[in-house]
Amino acid sequence: MKRVKIIGTGSYVPEKVLTNFDLEKMVDTSDEWIHTRTGMSERRIASDKDKASDLAVKAAHRALKDGGVTPEEIDLILVATATPDMFFPSTACFVQSAIGAKKSAAFDISAACSGYIYALSVAEQYIKSGKYKTILLIATEIFSRYIDWTDRNTCVLFGDGAAATVLKGVGGNKADGIISTLIYSDGKYADLLYLMGGGSSSPLTHETIDSKLHLLKMKGNSLFKIAVKNMVKAAREALTLNGYKVSDIDLLIPHQANKRIIDAVAESLDLPKEKIFVNIEKYGNTSAVSIPLALDEALKEGRIKEGDLILMVAFGGGLTWGSALIRW
Ligand code: ACO
Repeated sequence: MKRVKIIGTGSYVPEKVLTNFDLEKMVDTSDEWIHTRTGMSERRIASDKDKASDLAVKAAHRALKDGGVTPEEIDLILVATATPDMFFPSTACFVQSAIGAKKSAAFDISAACSGYIYALSVAEQYIKSGKYKTILLIATEIFSRYIDWTDRNTCVLFGDGAAATVLKGVGGNKADGIISTLIYSDGKYADLLYLMGGGSSSPLTHETIDSKLHLLKMKGNSLFKIAVKNMVKAAREALTLNGYKVSDIDLLIPHQANKRIIDAVAESLDLPKEKIFVNIEKYGNTSAVSIPLALDEALKEGRIKEGDLILMVAFGGGLTWGSALIRW
């Protein structure tokens, strides 16, 4: 069986920066409230012209260059997104055409903020089974299009961006590569975070738009508690399954939904702060993008070296959650 390695990473965030001070002028909030309650200072907002696939293509080019892989070598493109260009064709198909990945299959994965870990799990199975050798996995989100910019409970939280990784099957006896991916769901909590307008349960009408059903709805407080519990559980299960202890982790890359969630997870695991990668201050919650964006930054900042044990934990709408344990 092949080992699955991440051989290239790349990311792209839109130029436009929306700061907490900008938000103070839009809704009844303050930089102090947002920073203390979430750890966020600013986030990026896509231009009106940009689609999710446009951000994805920019991140993809960077990851392919980083990995030394040409578009012709790609067997499969997976796009993790909750904010696709349209219902269909998939955003992955638009990316495939734009980058000229002629022989590649392409499809999207919908698991909200856990989308990257879900897609990584799918990619891992395809490569380990021998079906595909080279997979391009991109997370891309433009949540700013689905935010109620008059609702202070949600509009301060989300940001746009894209991040890509190139995965390859490799042989040999080394121990590096993906050790395990674990994914979980619990649909009974679907009402904690959803966007129903335009779906078959709620086709767009003047009434659904007047009721703002085309915009994201979230029960932040309930999500907070479940997020901490499930991310800790996912982390512990990954370690136990593979015979590791918390002290073996060199870097934890958690989903960046709220700095207080990350701190609570770290405290529960008893993991020191220097072993956790946090960039929520600059980007807010970029949903599926947050983990690969953090991975790309951690690598570029030299926070990850060969042989390190990396644990990623995600949590998102669905509810969905999961982990990826990787020997770098
Ligand atoms: N500015 C000022 N006050 C605010 C703001 C704001 N931006 N937002 C909420 N408040 C107020 C509320 O109205 C409330 O006021 P009240 O007491 O008068 O009613 C008060 O602050 C407290 O509100 P809470 O919701 O209890 O605040 P909390 O500390 O829980 O923070 C937050 C809210 C940041 C949303 C937090 O609950 C959170 O991060 N939840 C998790 C979100 C999450 O994990 N999402 C994952 C989604 S990922 C995906 O799949 C897309």
